[in-house]
Amino acid sequence: MARRKKIYEGKAKILYEGPEPGTIVQYFKDDATAFNAQKKDVIEGKGVLNNRLSEFFMTGLGSIGVPTHFLKRLNMREQLVRACEIIPLEIIVRNYAAGTMSKRLGLEEGTALPRPIVEYCLKDDKLGDPLVSEEHIAAFGWASQHDMDDIVALALRVNDFMSGLMYGVGIKLVDFKIEVGRVYDGDFQRLIVADEISPDSCRLWDIETGQKLDKDVFRQDLGSLSDAYTEVAKRLGVMPKQATHISKPTLIN
Ligand code: C5P
Repeated sequence: MARRKKIYEGKAKILYEGPEPGTIVQYFKDDATAFNAQKKDVIEGKGVLNNRLSEFFMTGLGSIGVPTHFLKRLNMREQLVRACEIIPLEIIVRNYAAGTMSKRLGLEEGTALPRPIVEYCLKDDKLGDPLVSEEHIAAFGWASQHDMDDIVALALRVNDFMSGLMYGVGIKLVDFKIEVGRVYDGDFQRLIVADEISPDSCRLWDIETGQKLDKDVFRQDLGSLSDAYTEVAKRLGVMPKQATHISKPTLIN
């Protein structure tokens, strides 16, 4: 059997050439990284959970007319996605202050923002993904003004969808990051939501207790990351019965 071609290996995922032109197989690893990979660990079952959760969010977005790269889930760790040209920006939407915004502006974590705020970071690990403005984006040609209008519209639709979904299961969507890609349909190009949407790329707090159910559990050593992600998956009805902690075989006496 021919070995499939690896296109790219990132911190949490591997991309392989898909079975048909224009498709890619996205493999979710168990690796967790934070602070630009200065902190690393392997969290058993994380890739399985993120594969299912990203499928769930992308499918839901598709069903309300938000275009995404998702085509179908292939197995526990892989999904088939549409190939696209990734715009080299991380698009962050914030509803409450947290993380780098809290630090940058001296805002207490959890402060409600007057309206959702969209921020952009340049995707460049060597530079630590610096925050950039629309001026930088236009001047350096990372995206056109028309692209930016579409990106903001997509990001805000994702925010409304995800906020409502999470609110329904007692979770506050504090902020999240998406990536957007360009696809060509004949002579037309359009933008679609790409990469992944999972607790790796969102901040999710329990509405009642404020408990963190996202990657901050790993960043801040707050407990078991897989328990936090399993809780999110359970509340959303995603893989409620399946075991995600794939324990090693044990001897039965
Ligand atoms: O770290 P910061 O507060 O800027 O992150 C904002 C949101 O974007 C968080 O939900 C975080 O998980 C996400 N993010 C991400 N990947 C990055 C940077 C931030 O998913 N490289």
